[in-house]
Amino acid sequence: MHPALTVFTQDIALTGDIKTDMTTLLTQHGQSKTVGHHMRVAAEAKRLAQRWNAHGDDAEIEGWLHDISAIVPPDQRITLAEQLNLEILPEERAVLMIIHQKLSAVIAQVIFGIDNPAILSAMGCHTTLKQHATAFDKIVFIADKIKWDQAGDPPYLTELLAAMEQSLDHAVFCYVDYLWQRRDTLLVVHPWLADAHGELSEQLQ
Ligand SMILES: [Fe+2]
Repeated sequence: MHPALTVFTQDIALTGDIKTDMTTLLTQHGQSKTVGHHMRVAAEAKRLAQRWNAHGDDAEIEGWLHDISAIVPPDQRITLAEQLNLEILPEERAVLMIIHQKLSAVIAQVIFGIDNPAILSAMGCHTTLKQHATAFDKIVFIADKIKWDQAGDPPYLTELLAAMEQSLDHAVFCYVDYLWQRRDTLLVVHPWLADAHGELSEQLQ
């Protein structure tokens, strides 16, 4: 294991069962409040994967681990990303939350042994999406937005569920465009989000 990551599993007994180990790691690092979000996203991702003929078990694994980098305190995330030689965009240095998607993918790979490129790709863009996203990327992206990590229903939910009746791309665009229309109020506009918005708005015209 990369030495920068061993500190996060020290003195923690992992079983090899993804759901159990996710719960243990988050709890040991004081993040038990995010376990429920992981469970809800995993269930929704599996359900949506079955709806759109994608791999339900893989979608569930993505959901269980997509925010696993919550074990890394926010003020340590950029340092860790540098130690892991991840590409760090200026927007990710400016807003520390955004790098969590890339860190989750590395933690899933190194600590949980996930080597499925589809799962790692989806995890690595579950907040911003990206250009040329796959259907699997989009399914787990949408699952995270439907079962968001805040109280109550998200403000875009009704519109998003209606868009889902048209297509997966319509649902994804509904959320991405929701952000795009509010881009002046966002802390930063991540270039991957801008790319995804541009691509989808062209495709759906
Ligand atoms: Fe996340």
